[in-house]
Parts: sequence; C-alpha cells; structure tokens
Amino acid sequence: MAGLEDVPSMDLMNELLRRMKCSTKPDKRLILIGPPGSGKGTQSPIIKDEYCLCHLATGDMLRAAVAAKTPLGLKAKEVMDKGELVSDDLVVGIIDEALKKPSCQKGFILDGFPRTVTQAQKLDEMLEKRGVKVDKVLNFAIDDAILEDRITGRWIHPSSGRTYHTKFAPPKAPGVDDFTGEPLIQRKDDTAAVLKSRLEAFHKQTEPVIDYYTKKSIVANLHAEKPPKDVTVEVQKVLSS
Ligand code: AP5
Repeated sequence: MAGLEDVPSMDLMNELLRRMKCSTKPDKRLILIGPPGSGKGTQSPIIKDEYCLCHLATGDMLRAAVAAKTPLGLKAKEVMDKGELVSDDLVVGIIDEALKKPSCQKGFILDGFPRTVTQAQKLDEMLEKRGVKVDKVLNFAIDDAILEDRITGRWIHPSSGRTYHTKFAPPKAPGVDDFTGEPLIQRKDDTAAVLKSRLEAFHKQTEPVIDYYTKKSIVANLHAEKPPKDVTVEVQKVLSS
C-alpha cells in the first residue's frame, strides 16, 4: 500500500473502473496452443483485457530469466537458442508459482504451456488442488508454410511485449515502438534455421497435448491463417458461447 498518494488520480480512477468492469466478467481458464508464429501472443492481450485474466507466457518468463541471468535463465538459455524445449520440471515450477498472483484471481491465459503431455498432466494436478479446471483450449491451427514469414518479420518492444511485423503489422516508424519511441528488437530464436527445430518440437511433443484435451472435449479449433482481426472475431465467438 506504500506510496499510493504518489499515484496520479487518473491512474487510480482508471484502475478502479477496470476493477468494476472486471467484477461483472465470468471467470475463465484458458490455454492457447499452436506452433511458433501462429498468433498466440498477438491474441492474448486482447483476451486478457476483455476477460480480466492474467497472461502467463512461459516463453516470456524464460526470456526474462535469461536476461536477468538467474540460475534458471542460465539453464534455459542454451536450450532455447537451439529451439528445443526446456525441462518439464522447470516450467511447471514457474507456472505453479505464477498462478498464485492476485491478477490470476479471475482466471488465466496460458500461452505456450503446457507443451508436453507431462506438463498437461502436472497442470491438471495443480488445478485439482485449487479446485478448478481448464475451461477451453484454443488451438491456433495453421500450415507450417505460413510461419517462416511471420517469424522472420517479427519485431518486439521488449519492455511492453508489444509485437510488430514488417509486413502484417508494421510500426508507424521502422524499428521503433509506436507508444514509447524506444527501439524494437528481434528474438534470437526468430531465424528460419531455429524455426525448423521449434516446429519439430511442436509436432513431436506439443501436438499430443491437443489430443489430450480433445479427449476432454474442450478444444476449439481456430483458423489461425486468417488476418489478426478475423482471428479475434473467431476467438470472441468461442469464448462467448
Ligand atoms: P515461446 O516464446 O512460447 O515461443 P513460441 O511458442 O515459439 O511462440 P511465438 O511467441 O514465437 O509465437 P506466437 O504464436 O506468440 O506468435 P505471435 O503472436 O508473436 O517459446 C520460446 C522458447 O521457450 C521455446 O522454443 C522453448 O525453448 C521455451 N519454452 C517456452 N515454453 C515452454 C514450455 N512450456 N516447455 C518447455 N519449453 C518452453 O505472431 C508472430 C508474428 O506474426 C508477429 O510478428 C505478429 O505480428 C504476426 N501475426 C500474428 N498473427 C497474425 C495473423 N493472424 N496474420 C498475420 N500476421 C500475424
């Protein structure tokens, strides 16, 4: 609570209005699953704002640990640079901890987790202990051939996580964030060569996760090759039904 008097009134007012709006929204526990570049990170902030959920992206969390050179980050770096998956225990621990955040009270969006059947089983155990379960799995279905263009053209504003694309979502001025004017960066694993390993990992280790949830009848298949706005409309239809 310290220092609330230093927070501008307009910010406090906006936060109050946001919380009032959130109190009318239904709780939702969602998983976004799809290959690299399928649009999970693009759609997540929209869903997060609409339903007042927390957005837990294991890739972002791991990159933050790498940047901070924590013991976890040092372990993960080499594996991530090669486009392989880091160990199940490591990411399960991260998610278990993150789910305790107050911002996850109304539910969550898991983006990039679970990525193996073991992770899915561990998630079920975690949620069972909390007396809740996953409501919906959004499957960002898309042909591999489309993804190289999306991945190699992606530019990111590191501090906000805002994503741009040279062709599909260009910033107003090349190489700089629209809102802060700060420089954009490219991810180290966003190359055509590393994408090959990432796709291999997806088909071999993550596709079985889609089957895992299909058996529970909670998967909604999206046409992720459509333009971003059309994908948003599909997502909204699924979530409001
Ligand atoms: P992670 O960060 O999760 O990467 P990813 O799954 O490969 O997903 P991306 O972030 O690349 O794609 P996205 O679907 O979010 O695409 P975006 O919306 O940005 O993981 C990175 C690494 O961390 C892994 O390789 C692994 O090593 C490790 N890791 C993470 N989680 C793990 C786990 N659970 N277990 C083990 N290891 C783990 O879109 C891409 C681009 O396309 C953008 O430029 C965007 O503007 C554009 N775009 C988006 N949608 C559209 C559209 N509809 N039309 C046209 N362009 C579009």
